[in-house]
Amino acid sequence: LQHIRIGLLGLGTVGTGVYRMIEDYQEDLQHKTGCQISISKILVNSPNKLRSIEINPDLYTTDPNEVLQDPNIDMIVEVMGGVEEAREYITQALNSKKHVVTANKDLIALHGGELLSLAGEQNCDLFYEASVAGGIPILRGLGDGFSSDRITKMLGILNGTTNYMLSKMAQEGVDYDTCLKEAQDLGYAEADPTSDVEGLDAARKVAILGTLGYNTEFSLDEVDVQGISSIDQKDVQYGREFGYELKLLGIADKQNEEVELSVQPTFIKKSHPLANVDGVNNAVYVHGESVGETMFYGPGAGELPTATAVTSDLVTVVKNIKLGVNGKGNVAPFNVKKMKPKER
Ligand code: NAP
Ligand code: HSE
Repeated sequence: LQHIRIGLLGLGTVGTGVYRMIEDYQEDLQHKTGCQISISKILVNSPNKLRSIEINPDLYTTDPNEVLQDPNIDMIVEVMGGVEEAREYITQALNSKKHVVTANKDLIALHGGELLSLAGEQNCDLFYEASVAGGIPILRGLGDGFSSDRITKMLGILNGTTNYMLSKMAQEGVDYDTCLKEAQDLGYAEADPTSDVEGLDAARKVAILGTLGYNTEFSLDEVDVQGISSIDQKDVQYGREFGYELKLLGIADKQNEEVELSVQPTFIKKSHPLANVDGVNNAVYVHGESVGETMFYGPGAGELPTATAVTSDLVTVVKNIKLGVNGKGNVAPFNVKKMKPKER
């Protein structure tokens, strides 16, 4: 049995889920890929930290070179977050012909184009399904499932933390700070939750969706962003009295050859399917000229839902290693054409 060794960068909410899935589903994964898959090194900040799983302490390192320069490691799973270090480590990994799976939307929204080009040059896989809408396989949906169609509109609830908060404020009358603390304790929020509540996390996802859906590289500063930090429980309750739910919506809307990219709190009529997406769930509505209306729904954050997306990417990498086709099917725009972001 071929043995595929993984270097895990980060063992927080998502990394822990990935570790658990590889341990708990070892037999299924072997059956599906024909390979034995194991994690052979884990980069963390604090190896002595108390963790929710028991792991052989020999696997921990604080030295990235022990992971990135280990010739026995075939693949890196980056779930540490942040931009510059993650960019540097992924670049090093690709230059050493290691495949990469990442959940890092901050990085992909800023440097996805550069990293995907490098992956292509090195015949390496670079997958990032978990970067948008947690457990929902929306990127493959856009990159493969709708590749024949012309997408005309994408809108969605793309941030689990704020959707959890707005749902709690609406349904249980819980105040803003308590809801945010709960979302952090449940592992939904970013290390710095400002990016959740100020809409930046959703904006990164809108930039990624726009880039894939419209085959055009959009940058983060082309997304008009407004978060929920100025909203309180009374605003949410007030909308409800009139039959509306307040949701933080990410929008990538194409009209003629212009695309409007934005994130904004929006009152949605209760009868609309997006109004009923509660808690940590996300939903992405995609309209295509031929397919018509579609909607993808599921958990947008949290340990195992996000780990499902990461581990599924990992399974694809392993299958590609078996078939010898790595680097051929990265989810990326091809022959990019430049559509304009809408003038504001
Ligand atoms: P987290 O709980 O904060 O975990 C981060 C992990 O990375 C920790 O284990 C930390 O080590 C390690 N780490 C961070 N910086 C490091 C550095 N410079 N050197 C070595 N180790 C470092 O983060 P998370 O929630 O799992 O999120 C990870 C990534 O997934 C982020 O890019 C996030 O945006 C993305 N994501 C998260 C979710 C979610 O639901 N949480 C969903 C989708 C995508 P210690 O444990 O020693 O502190
Ligand atoms: N902080 C993010 C969220 C994690 O709440 O949606 C998933 O990307």
